[in-house]
Amino acid sequence: MSRIAYVNGQYLPHREASVHVEDRGYQFADGVYEVVTIVNGKMIDEEGHLDRLWRSLGELRMDAPMDREPMKFVMREVIRQNGIYNGIIYLQVTRGVAPRDHPFPKDVRPALVMTAKRLSMKKAAKTAEQGIAVITVPDIRWTRRDIKSVSLLPNVLAKQEAKDKDAYEAFQVDDDGMVTEGSSTNAWIVDQDGKIITRPLSNDILAGITRASLIAELEKRGLEIEFRSFSVDELHNAREVFLTSSTSYVLPVVKVDDHVIGNGQPGSISLDLREIYQEFMLAAE
Ligand code: PDD
Repeated sequence: MSRIAYVNGQYLPHREASVHVEDRGYQFADGVYEVVTIVNGKMIDEEGHLDRLWRSLGELRMDAPMDREPMKFVMREVIRQNGIYNGIIYLQVTRGVAPRDHPFPKDVRPALVMTAKRLSMKKAAKTAEQGIAVITVPDIRWTRRDIKSVSLLPNVLAKQEAKDKDAYEAFQVDDDGMVTEGSSTNAWIVDQDGKIITRPLSNDILAGITRASLIAELEKRGLEIEFRSFSVDELHNAREVFLTSSTSYVLPVVKVDDHVIGNGQPGSISLDLREIYQEFMLAAE
């Protein structure tokens, strides 16, 4: 099945899909996005992702390109036309096309683009079984990381540094030596007492949808979570480390910088949490 992209009202062959050179996303990174996972043909946390998209748009004083219900229709259509059973759908909204000038242009229509792609569940399972390596890097981003903006250059540099060091992800560290989050994931530790710890929501991190759903599942089971920042030292000496995101689900970390976590195998709590999250995904309607 050939890939299809949605671009401002049209379903086009992926290869031919394009936007104007003066799209403000291209020139100013003046746009926001979402990545929604599809498992067994079902979108995971569609409402949560759309809530966050609308929030990001609001924070940037950008109009929605269409109402929520039509957007849901387009998302389903993109998934259907691409024949995606397991994978992701990517949505991007920019302020639109206008002659280059910093202030918001008048009477411009926001631009909406969607693409979708398959992901291998087998490969994801194998990665989780082995566990991944993470590095730490300084967090050099702006102070509104709660907005899911397409301005991702620091994240790109962090991820490339991880790749150069054969690591899967880079955890970013603020000026106080505390971990904020991964370049495209939220960061968690389990301390030596078995406490599950993650940074509380603020403008310092993105409010991960996977993070929120995992928290809800854990709270349902009466499992406690400590919401506080943790240091690089705590990260290095944690009993377990894991990360969450729409594309990684719950992924155990077995090495951070030069520190082996636990015995170098995915920790039992991380694996239990991955299982809990998988069950949650499989129950999606
Ligand atoms: N990234 N933190 C950052 C900086 C992110 O970019 C993401 C998501 C997350 C996790 O959020 P969620 O659980 O809602 O996926 C945390 C997506 C997957 C991406 O950029 O590809």
